[in-house]
Amino acid sequence: MNEPSIERVLFTEEQIAERIREVGGAISARYAGRELKLIGVLKGSVFFLTALARELTIPTKIDFLAISSFAHQRGAPGMVRIAKDLDDSIEGEDVMLVEDIVDTGFTTRYLLQNLAARGPNSLALCTLLDRTPRRIVQVPVDFRCFEIPDRFVVGFGLDYKQLFRNLKYIGVLNLDSA
Ligand code: IMP
Ligand code: MG
Repeated sequence: MNEPSIERVLFTEEQIAERIREVGGAISARYAGRELKLIGVLKGSVFFLTALARELTIPTKIDFLAISSFAHQRGAPGMVRIAKDLDDSIEGEDVMLVEDIVDTGFTTRYLLQNLAARGPNSLALCTLLDRTPRRIVQVPVDFRCFEIPDRFVVGFGLDYKQLFRNLKYIGVLNLDSA
């Protein structure tokens, strides 16, 4: 059994940086005169969140939560639980959930519902990658960097068995050799 390898580069380091700059500009414009709290989902969205935060020109706070997902192990999509909660309350704040990828939508829907119940002033969703062909439950995507085809991707935070998160680019993983 061989290790899976990168089949092709989908987005280069430069393309990712350029797109995050654009989206960061759009977010800064949308929230002009307000303060925004970015909420990252450990561990996948850390790379994206830190890059995005540096492109924002509005006052920005960050917080993180971690989830355990059983979706891929047991074939039960939507089974998500919070393994590490936010440090602080988000009540009355303008909040943006920052995701690495919205795939079926189950994880994101769960997180949006969970966060909405905490009484933020507003709640939006920004995702690095959006794979709409695989969507099962609808979630409102306010900001997205890239739409991607139905292939497994890694890099810029996204992993395969915890590996490849540190790639500077986003690539399609060849799982056939795995
Ligand atoms: P969901 O199907 O939208 O609930 O996505 C669940 C999670 O699966 C995402 O947050 C990612 O952590 C992971 N995931 C989905 N597609 C990919 C992929 O192509 N590469 C790496 N992780 C993925
Ligand atoms: Mg993952």
